Amino acid sequence: MRLLVFLIICQCGIKNVNSHSASNPNIILLMADDLGIGDLGCYGNRTLRTPNIDRLAKEGVTLTQHIAASPLCTPSRAAFLTGRYPIRSGMAAYSRVGVFLFSASSGGLPSEEITFSKLLKQRGYSTALIGKWHLGMNRESSNDFCHHPLSHGFDYFYGLAVTNLRDCKLGQGSVFLKGIEKSIGTSIQIIGITLVSLATVHFIGFLKVPFQALGYCLLITAILLVVLLFFFYNFRYLNCFLMRNHQIIQQPLSYENLTQRLTKEAVQFIGRNTDAPFLLVLSYLHVHTALYASKNFIGKSKHGLYGDAVEEMDWSVGQILDVLEKRNLNNKTLVYFTSDQGAHVEEISSSGEAHGGYNGIYKGGKSTNWEGGIRVPGLLLWPGVIQAGTYIYEPTSNMDIFPTVIKLAGAQLPYDRIIDGHDLMPLLQGKIIRSKHEFLFHYCNAYLNAVRWHPRNSESIWKVFFFTPNFNPEGSNGCYDSHVCFCYGRFVTRHDPPLLFDLSRDPEEKVPLTPETESHFYEILNVILRAVDNHTKSLHAVPDQLSWDNLLWKPWLQLCCSSLFQSCYCDYESEENLPEVHSE
Ligand SMILES: *[C@@H]1O[C@H](CO)[C@@H](O)[C@H](O)[C@H]1NC(C)=O
Ligand SMILES: *[C@@H]1O[C@H](CO)[C@@H](O)[C@H](O)[C@H]1NC(C)=O
Ligand SMILES: *[C@@H]1O[C@H](CO)[C@@H](O)[C@H](O)[C@H]1NC(C)=O
Ligand SMILES: *[C@@H]1O[C@H](CO)[C@@H](O)[C@H](O)[C@H]1NC(C)=O
Repeated sequence: MRLLVFLIICQCGIKNVNSHSASNPNIILLMADDLGIGDLGCYGNRTLRTPNIDRLAKEGVTLTQHIAASPLCTPSRAAFLTGRYPIRSGMAAYSRVGVFLFSASSGGLPSEEITFSKLLKQRGYSTALIGKWHLGMNRESSNDFCHHPLSHGFDYFYGLAVTNLRDCKLGQGSVFLKGIEKSIGTSIQIIGITLVSLATVHFIGFLKVPFQALGYCLLITAILLVVLLFFFYNFRYLNCFLMRNHQIIQQPLSYENLTQRLTKEAVQFIGRNTDAPFLLVLSYLHVHTALYASKNFIGKSKHGLYGDAVEEMDWSVGQILDVLEKRNLNNKTLVYFTSDQGAHVEEISSSGEAHGGYNGIYKGGKSTNWEGGIRVPGLLLWPGVIQAGTYIYEPTSNMDIFPTVIKLAGAQLPYDRIIDGHDLMPLLQGKIIRSKHEFLFHYCNAYLNAVRWHPRNSESIWKVFFFTPNFNPEGSNGCYDSHVCFCYGRFVTRHDPPLLFDLSRDPEEKVPLTPETESHFYEILNVILRAVDNHTKSLHAVPDQLSWDNLLWKPWLQLCCSSLFQSCYCDYESEENLPEVHSE
């Protein structure tokens, strides 16, 4: 009898899950790549048209101080999925390169990390990742899929394993080849000069040169050079492919209607899950370079191909909102929109067109911890649950999505590790007015770069920088010479005492405060240094997923849908007919 009652209660519980909006809502997380906060109408842009994204703001909540956990894709996305600073999972680099560049690298989001997708899946959610992943693939062999989305709690994956890059699209230039060609040229010169001088020395009779050993050395060098050249000339085939679950479906990927295809996949996923709670992460390739847009958008915006890409993404957001409405799902769905980091201001095409976005009044951009690099759009929509047209000025983080959706799904937060994010719902619903983030730590890869302190009893937002990137040319707003800013050595200037700003008075980070202009300078600094100390003590040594060893191309990890000698080519996508996006 007891059991029967229990069963009945359970059944009702399950019914409630589907009909009751405040628990187990559907979760849709939309993430743009390199979109600037100043690119959206709802954040003040007057010339780019983003009516659908603006609708999220009008009918939902706008976060004005939404902070990415890192100004680079791989670490920011790792933090987003785990609710933890990337340094805790080993997803923050000590060397110069802070992101994965190749599909056949062995690093990636470790299996021990708990993603929100894993926890929601355990709670019975249908989970899908559509679009860009950029958190690793294989570890030891080309089919262990140790770091693949399906190993991190997603039931379904359709998208790009690594990232969109100029090298992925013909005619868009290369992030690599310029540097490589230069170094190969130099190597050949050095080898040549060495050979000639050795031969001379030998001829004169000064030295007995072991020509045979030298020959082997040269042969090996030549082979390495050929492999390198082969790799970079075949970059598209080896690194830019589309997958459906574990299968490669288009190698190299085609940009034709790409956003339509991602959108269609997302709409179909929603259609398959109207009766059960679902988690959809739609991670756009827009607006990272190589820029692209379909026929309906190309040449339509006032801001070149970049603007076309933004407007196409906005169209896609509109398609998602439409299908929710048609399926009567909008009141039981939480929709979130953000960007993984600020706009990449250094992105300028070879013809001089701006291929990077706009960070509004904020300084710097992607790869820096100036506000332009980390202050990203943060929009949340949930009709009937969160008040339309609300603005929240408090500091929030992209790590907050983790505890927020875990709680909404009725799952338990992991108790064996530190979670750095905080549940957003109390703030969104006006139950509290102060953010729980008293401190936020801003890392440049693995290096603590800056700290934000919002004291509980004041309106100030203090931000100190221990170092700042050296912009070049000097006086510009970015590191144009190197395309991105780096985190150490001659690329930065250290500050002792640290630079101090009050973002509540100086959001543009224009005039650093000094002990003369801010009488509490050292008190503020001391509080922040104590917080740094406490934070640093909470870190544990973990394997570095972005070490050189884990970043390099490992041929035995290469995924290839035909044999390597058939140059890794296939296209199952174009064989299917691509109907217009509509919700069946
Ligand atoms: C709107 O965005 C474009 C593209 O990033 C930018 O060039 C422009 O300055 C922005 N306009 C305003 C008014 O913010
Ligand atoms: C792309 O979409 C357009 C419009 O929907 C269609 O006419 C065109 O055939 C599509 N291209 C491909 C390669 O499917
Ligand atoms: C959704 O919520 C809004 C706002 O509370 C309400 O006006 C509307 O009737 C609801 N729609 C449905 C289908 O429940
Ligand atoms: C110290 O750090 C831990 C871990 O991040 C955090 O939970 C705690 O609130 C911090 N304590 C203080 C006093 O800042």
